[in-house]
Formats: sequence, structure tokens, C-alpha cells
Amino acid sequence: MSPIRVAIIGIGNCASSLVQGVSFYTQNPHAGGLIHPEIAGYLPSDVQFVLGIDVDERKVGKDVAEAIFSPPNNTKVFQDDVPLTGAKVIRGCVLDGVAPHMVQGGERGFQVSDQPDSTKDEIVAALNASQAEILLNFLPVGSQQATEFYMECALEAGVAVVNCIPVFIASDADWEARFRARRLPIVGDDIKAQVGATIVHRTLSTLFASRGVSVDRTYQLNTGGNTDFMNMLDRDRISSKKESKTEAVQAAMARRLNDENIQIGPSEYVPWQKDNKLCFLRLEGEQWGGVPVEVELRLSVEDSPNAAACVMDAIRFCRFALDNGESGALTVPSAYYCKHPPQQMNEGTAGRLLDDYLLGQLKAAE
Ligand SMILES: NC(=O)c1ccc[n+]([C@@H]2O[C@H](COP(=O)([O-])OP(=O)(O)OC[C@H]3O[C@@H](n4cnc5c(N)ncnc54)[C@H](O)[C@@H]3O)[C@@H](O)[C@H]2O)c1
Repeated sequence: MSPIRVAIIGIGNCASSLVQGVSFYTQNPHAGGLIHPEIAGYLPSDVQFVLGIDVDERKVGKDVAEAIFSPPNNTKVFQDDVPLTGAKVIRGCVLDGVAPHMVQGGERGFQVSDQPDSTKDEIVAALNASQAEILLNFLPVGSQQATEFYMECALEAGVAVVNCIPVFIASDADWEARFRARRLPIVGDDIKAQVGATIVHRTLSTLFASRGVSVDRTYQLNTGGNTDFMNMLDRDRISSKKESKTEAVQAAMARRLNDENIQIGPSEYVPWQKDNKLCFLRLEGEQWGGVPVEVELRLSVEDSPNAAACVMDAIRFCRFALDNGESGALTVPSAYYCKHPPQQMNEGTAGRLLDDYLLGQLKAAE
């Protein structure tokens, strides 16, 4: 298999877990923790990082393998032996990627490099020179303009996209049409976690529905101590995140809840938690005879490896689509791996369709 050439925007905690993971699974090919050990013949070790794009002075100019361990990244280091990739982190274009409060956060916040912003032509040239096939978007929540800027670069350079953040591109009809017209696949939007708050919340909601128990009220309160949580202290930046997370849960309900009965979102930044995320989840409903039932659950997970597991699969589905000349939003992989796909599906249906999709495409390719 030829390597899957991947460029990354935002060398933060998620990028760190992903890059560490490629080394980890190259050295430990039979270790657990993968959703799909192999997709259409592709292994995690087939992923090669060819370009990084960031704006933080502690990352710009470094090899991607060094930048992932630079502050303010604070996710768990499960693989400290990451060979140099030969791919440098170039200076991106700040736009709305860096919120004002993030530059006042000292070591824990962002420190913007004083190099000038790269232009669109410069980013396109770097993507072309790196021969990247797939671009990952790991920008901070609320980076609407910056995401649109980099999507224009991807379209111009002819690079497929995995959009891991809640800025709506794959699920926006106009953007999706542009990727389709350019014959490029895209997976998005807003990556789900392997076992995270959203999927646990959806699974419990589906369980209630399948047993005839109503969900009348629910919340999902999340705390964490990474830059993602620090960034989301600015409530103006999180409207699309809230929409994405809330829709993902509403879609699993037997009956949609009124706004006042569902509260989902980032709730507090607790620095000492670092990349550990805590989710406090509650569902209230009625069972037989209108008798009340309640579930309280506390989930504790390392946030970024949780996302990397899904991104690793999304990358390989994207490459598989490139191999098969498929373009536009990849409906089934997006539904399985993202919170805000073009088409929502429950986990069971999406999982079954994902297997069918893989088999169908493999047969067609024979
Ligand atoms: N961890 C998860 O489970 C999960 C799940 C779904 C979505 N996400 C999303 O993925 C994204 C990345 O998360 P993270 O934890 O890696 O965030 P992070 O804060 O660790 O990393 C963001 C990176 O983007 C860089 N950046 C800021 N503006 C930029 C610009 N204009 N150009 C280039 N780089 C820029 C920052 O310097 C930083 O390195 C977030 O939007 C997060 O909400 C994460």
C-alpha cells in the first residue's frame, strides 16, 4: 500500500494523540484500542504526516514529531518514541483561530508567533509541495473564518478533508457541493470520540427508547483542563459546538426534547484536569405506569486519544474514497465518526451500513 499522506491544521492535543498513535501501532501492530485494525487493507502504520500548520511560536518551525510535545499540549504521552517525520510545522493564518482570552492565558494559552500570516497561495504551495492527500482540521472551536480559509486552500490544492471540528462544511450543502465538484471526498463534521460523552449519551437515550421509557429531561455537563476547554470559556465561540453535540443526542431520542429540557455542552475549565475530561450525565424519564426513572453517570476519559481513534478510521475511509474516485461528503463514515454529519444515523444502523459500504466498495473495485 502506498502511504496515506496527511497534513494537519492545528498541532494541538488531538494531533499529538494521533501522531503518537501512528508510532505506537507501527511498533505494536497487534495492540488493542483500534476501532478497525485494518480498513480496505490500510493499517495505522500506512499514515504518514507530511505537513503541519499552526500559529503558536512553540510549534512553528519544528518537526511535527517535536511540535506535538510542545506546550500548551498536555495530553497523556503514551508513546514518547516518535521518530522525526521530516515534515515541518509552517506558520498558518490566525484569523479567528485564536480567541483574545487565549493569548492572555500565559503558558497554558496560545502564544502567537510573530512571523507574518501565511497567505492562501503560500498554504496551497505548501500543500502541493508536501503532496498531501488528506488535510485534517483540528482548529479550536469557533474558528469559522480560519476553517473557511483552509477549506479554500484544500479545494485549490485538490486535497481531501477530514473536518474534526464543529464548523459545518461536510454538512453544509454549498461547501459539500464544492468538494463534490472538485472530485474530493470529505468526512465531517465534528469528530465523535471512541467512547465519549456523546456516544454514551446517545446509547442510553436509544436504550430508553427501545424499552419504551420516555426521556423527559437530560443534561450532559463536561469539564476538562486542556486548551479546548479553555477556549470554550468564551461562550460566543461555542454555539456550533452546542448545536453539534445537542443534535447528536436529540437524533437518538424517541421524541425530541424542548430546549429547556436538554442541556449539553462544555461546562467548566479545570486546569489540573489537563486532557482528562469528566462528563456528568443525567437522564430523567417515566417507565411503566408513569413511574419515574433516573440515570446518573460519570465518565472519565483522556479527551484526545478518544478522538484520535475515530480520526484514524476517518483518514483511511477518506483514502479509500480517493482510491475509488468517490467525492463529496462520505455519508456513512461521516455518520459513524462525526457528531454533525450530513445525515444522522443511530450507531447500530451506521455501523451496519459502514460494513456494507466497505464490502460494496471493495467488490466494485475488484
Ligand atoms: N478531543 C476530542 O475528543 C474532540 C472531539 C471532537 C472535536 N474536537 C475538536 O478538535 C479540535 C482540536 O482539539 P485539540 O484538543 O487538539 O485543540 P488544541 O487547542 O489542543 O489545538 C488547537 C491548535 O490549533 C492551533 N491554531 C489556532 N489557530 C490556528 C490557525 N489559525 N491556524 C493554524 N493553527 C491554529 C493552536 O495553536 C493549537 O495548536 C477542537 O476544535 C476540538 O473541539 C475534539
